[in-house]
Amino acid sequence: MASEEKSTAQISQRAELLDGARIADDIKREVAAEIAQLWRKPEQRPCLAAVRVGDDPASEVYVKNKIRACEEIGIRSEHHALPGSTTASELRELIGSLNARNEIDGILVQMPLPGGIDQAAIIETLNPAKDIDGFHPVNVGRLALGRPTFVPCTPAGIIELLTRSKIPIRGANACVVGRSQIVGRPMAQLLIQNDATVTICHSRTQDLKSVTTQADILVVAIGSPGLIRRDYIKSGATVIDVGMNKISDESVARALFGDEAERRLEIIKKRGYTLVGDVHPAEADEVAGRRTPVPGGVGLLTVAMLMRNTVKAAGKRRL
Ligand code: GUN
Repeated sequence: MASEEKSTAQISQRAELLDGARIADDIKREVAAEIAQLWRKPEQRPCLAAVRVGDDPASEVYVKNKIRACEEIGIRSEHHALPGSTTASELRELIGSLNARNEIDGILVQMPLPGGIDQAAIIETLNPAKDIDGFHPVNVGRLALGRPTFVPCTPAGIIELLTRSKIPIRGANACVVGRSQIVGRPMAQLLIQNDATVTICHSRTQDLKSVTTQADILVVAIGSPGLIRRDYIKSGATVIDVGMNKISDESVARALFGDEAERRLEIIKKRGYTLVGDVHPAEADEVAGRRTPVPGGVGLLTVAMLMRNTVKAAGKRRL
């Protein structure tokens, strides 16, 4: 009886799942309509060049998803898949030629690059006007100054998710866990611009819990499976999980997924792994007001925002 009562109580306060898939579809539909209106002839439509080096399987999937999204909404694309043996100077040469080609509107260099290549130096070779990821120092600087720019796609997608889900940002206490160039730092900039009070935490933060439990909006991008447990979360908070970690151990999956464990165990049997974020989903459900699922949360928004940035680049360059 006691356990029945507990499970009823848990169900009654389960966090609402934020629907990243629906919002990503809405954004892609809006971008597709804009393309169809601005560029009637297919051969004039925006064109994205995707560059991938090496054979990291996750990067391969991400780039494939980006190219597929281009096809769905009417963006032209080309995919440059280079071997892991590619040198920095060969990569610079390719980027130079993409910078110079007028028909290319946006260039995406999938990260991470293989160990021997200096990522920061490669990013600096991009034409900032074609840097649809918003990674070039010129665009990073513009973002820091609060000026219009290309904004990195994952944090931009999270702002869309929050605003379209009517979650107030102005005046909210926001905590970003993770200080990466791709997510944590630009996320904090965007939250500041949206009038949140922002704290950035990272792997060296002392007493992480004491900070995260103050957050009305908690964004986690640190790459540590299930790190954020029930006692890290303020009751009713919105928890945005950017993590993408592979889990193949059945007992770990059971501990993480609660009611969803059986379905996840089936996935492990079929594929050898299932994905979990940086947030412990079963425990977050007991405390949070809303959370994003993994998969199906922010990953889809990243792709949608890349499409939007590509159209923006084409518009600025050609209209
Ligand atoms: N690696 C992880 N996320 C991203 C992203 O948004 N863009 C690129 N280029 N590489 C990534």
